Amino acid sequence: MKKTEIKIFEASNHLIKELSDELVRYFKTLNKSQKYITVALSGGNTPKEMFKYLAENYSEDKIWNSVKFFWGDERCVPPDSSESNFGEAERLFFSRLKSSKLHIFRVQGEDNPEQEAERYSALINKNVDTENGLPKFHLVLLGIGEDGHTASIFPDQISLFNSDKICAVAVHPKTGQKRITLTGKVINNSTNIIVMAAGKSKSKILKKIVFSKNKKYPAAHLKPVSGNLFWFADESAASELFTE
Ligand code: 6PG
Repeated sequence: MKKTEIKIFEASNHLIKELSDELVRYFKTLNKSQKYITVALSGGNTPKEMFKYLAENYSEDKIWNSVKFFWGDERCVPPDSSESNFGEAERLFFSRLKSSKLHIFRVQGEDNPEQEAERYSALINKNVDTENGLPKFHLVLLGIGEDGHTASIFPDQISLFNSDKICAVAVHPKTGQKRITLTGKVINNSTNIIVMAAGKSKSKILKKIVFSKNKKYPAAHLKPVSGNLFWFADESAASELFTE
């Protein structure tokens, strides 16, 4: 039974703790019936605290051997760049795990974007179960930009939300930086979508998206086909949700 739920936390550290603990519980439950759990990680700053918390509290856990880590989007930069979403996860999380065999499927941001979008799409197809003719991740973790973008689907490229591709090349509207992004149909095909939003700077956009569902914003198109959508917000980010 698919559901949409908004979880609001007094402070971002409470959000991070609850989200992280919930993810580990969910992965362990899934692992009872699934050999592998497929996850698409988010980039940006919000997940960094989650990576740190998971590394501090679950570094010895064996569950990580059963997770296939992908990315919902990646900047077209080398993995050692401070801009790299993989690089941040490696520095803050993977490098601190005691797991013997991690299954990390990074986007090769250092390669030709168009070719990498094709390669990564094929890699996802090979390693993620499918449903409705599309890859079906167990979990897609997303952030939300103040402009309403999610993954790397920006308002001026909103057609990527309904692209028939699995991954596409996007361009950051301000910096011109090329990105590889999951497209919207794949995101909406997942079993669970979790959007993390922390800080006052997200309050206006969250109001426009969560209830008003203003379709000019890509994140307003998040609507799982058969899965669940969870908004994890701290009180600052949720501060305008219930005002006129
Ligand atoms: C990226 C992200 C992007 C991010 C939002 C929010 O690669 O930057 O995937 O979609 O989630 O921009 O970023 P913050 O968490 O830094 O606010």
